[in-house]
Amino acid sequence: MEKLLDNIIQTNRKYVEEGEVASYIPELKKGNKNDLGVYVTTLNGEEFSAGDYETRFTIQSISKVISLIIAIMDNGEDYVFSKVGVEHTADAFNSITNLETKNLHRPSNPMINAGAIAIVSLIKGREPDEVFERILNFTRKITGNDNININREAYISEKATGDRNRSLAYFMKSTGVITNDVEKVLDVYFKQCSMEVTCKDISRIGAFLANDGVIPLTGEKVIPRETARIVKAIMTTCGMYDASGEFAVNIGMPAKSGVGGGIMAVAPEKMGIGVVGPSLDKKGNSIAGIKVLADLSKELELSIF
Ligand code: DON
Repeated sequence: MEKLLDNIIQTNRKYVEEGEVASYIPELKKGNKNDLGVYVTTLNGEEFSAGDYETRFTIQSISKVISLIIAIMDNGEDYVFSKVGVEHTADAFNSITNLETKNLHRPSNPMINAGAIAIVSLIKGREPDEVFERILNFTRKITGNDNININREAYISEKATGDRNRSLAYFMKSTGVITNDVEKVLDVYFKQCSMEVTCKDISRIGAFLANDGVIPLTGEKVIPRETARIVKAIMTTCGMYDASGEFAVNIGMPAKSGVGGGIMAVAPEKMGIGVVGPSLDKKGNSIAGIKVLADLSKELELSIF
């Protein structure tokens, strides 16, 4: 397996040239375009890695999966999906038009920025600090890594330049999707996106979902199987944004990308996979990371379809 991963990384390294590191959040420009790494956590406790798997990066949109799980646990799925839809959108992850023209002002799904911000507003906690603390603790628990923390520079950078997200959030406040303090909700959202991880950490999140909400290493059941099922379905249809259809055809796994360069993928009942490759395509997905997952899916027959 390690040999296979090594080969896949080597074959696909050339693709890092075709993309660019995200620059709309200034701190992300520091990412190394040439990095490419992969980490696999199987459900029977085996772990394999190759390439630059030790690269640290901010979790970014992969955190949307975590806050969705917590929001469902806090409110039940019916309430959550009365506020945020579950329909795929062909628009970009930070699209504004979509919010006004579709779904009676409800964001289309929890994976685009508007939907994710609305989801954060549903998480219970007295103060924003407590809400974020819950997200951080949950992330530490399912990754088995108590050292996960926010990257303060990334957080400050995103908060200082997050006006697109601010406009999405204020718009949703005007339509009643968000009912609490917009700046406080955004602060939690910026913090959750700034959690710093490695592909080992995200492979563990994938393994936890592959195992229907039970942490493979400890056997602890953290969420109902039904919640894991819903989250995987939404990842399959919306996790790679407006590239989700192509990803389903070529790779066929529930997955979630982030502009830090990470992709978390789930091979149900088999393994969780984390890849990192900060060189992104125009849709904000890791360009070489997708190639790595495509090869891995083919070699190990991981497509769910
Ligand atoms: O809100 C943002 O724009 C970023 N914190 C996260 C966006 C993101 O990761 C999109 N992913 N590919």
